Amino acid sequence: MAKYLVTGAVGFIGTQISKILLESGHTVIGIDSLNDAYDPTIKQIRNKELSIFQEFKLLNMDICNNSLIKEIPDVQFDAVIHLAARAGVRQSLESPGIYLETNILGTLNILEFCRDAKIKKMVLASTSSLYGETNSRLIDEANPTDLPLTPYSVSKKSAELLCYSYHYQYDIDISINRYFTVYGQFGRPDMSIFKFIKLIDENKTITVFGDGTQTRDFTHVDDVARGTIASLKPIGFEIFNLGSHSPVSINHVISCIESKLNKNASREYLPKNNADVSSTFANIEKAKNLLNWEPQLSFEQGLNNTIEWYQKNKEWLTDISVDN
Ligand SMILES: NC(=O)c1ccc[n+]([C@@H]2O[C@H](COP(=O)([O-])OP(=O)(O)OC[C@H]3O[C@@H](n4cnc5c(N)ncnc54)[C@H](O)[C@@H]3O)[C@@H](O)[C@H]2O)c1
Repeated sequence: MAKYLVTGAVGFIGTQISKILLESGHTVIGIDSLNDAYDPTIKQIRNKELSIFQEFKLLNMDICNNSLIKEIPDVQFDAVIHLAARAGVRQSLESPGIYLETNILGTLNILEFCRDAKIKKMVLASTSSLYGETNSRLIDEANPTDLPLTPYSVSKKSAELLCYSYHYQYDIDISINRYFTVYGQFGRPDMSIFKFIKLIDENKTITVFGDGTQTRDFTHVDDVARGTIASLKPIGFEIFNLGSHSPVSINHVISCIESKLNKNASREYLPKNNADVSSTFANIEKAKNLLNWEPQLSFEQGLNNTIEWYQKNKEWLTDISVDN
């Protein structure tokens, strides 16, 4: 059985990846600062979900603090899955410094750890937002990424570049996964699908930036987690789009939630936010060919599962705050 170091382990995607690894009998040492970028109560609850596995241990530490990183137990990890980050395009306009520090300096610290500990494999979580404005075009990994619209995208591009230099200099095998808007159980309260489900169910007004015709290649967290685990194989240095390849509009998302909850959403439309692009649409041929991965859940199935999870867990979800 393998041993993995997962940074951002009690984050949304980290929880799902860790759970699959633990269910397969592997050991996961997680690192997370449990910061308050969004309501941290949900991070504590995710931690409880993972802590039922004996082979899970969480280290509460900040990846920007190099002296803390030196305290990671001396375990020969088979791979490091680096997910810890400040995420979110709009929020990165409000506090760009913390984004650059966490996503660039934090990644550098993790790469240095990999170098010192002679880790053979690392996986980095990156983002479709690197592609900037793509006007509904199908986007493969060779698409230019030199016009990032936000500090978040800049920070992730920088993290990717650091990874390449560490691969080149120290022969660390690295897979970079560019995720396309992820949703699902234990989601992020600052993201649209989580917010919309909760607010519509509570008969509260939802905010839509722009006219709602913008599209996203929403990808279910189970598919993203499986793709990330598939990318643990030795590969050299490669970048993969992990997206559903079936974009839907924000207005469509809202209609689907309305019909599943049998409620009408009260909507407030605000001007388009300059951090937002009009579309994302992943070409996933490379991940299909090299990782033998493709998404398994349609948007309708994934959304239904997410709403059913919400309904089952409503008792504690009621107290989770969404910043509307
Ligand atoms: N959710 C998406 O749609 C999406 C899309 C593209 C890329 N990503 C990337 O995937 C990764 C995981 O995203 P997520 O949606 O699970 O976000 P998340 O915020 O739920 O998870 C990130 C975790 O990292 C932790 N963290 C942040 N800064 C830290 C620090 N300095 N030290 C230690 N831990 C720290 C947070 O507490 C959090 O639990 C991130 O790198 C994100 O940029 C996510």
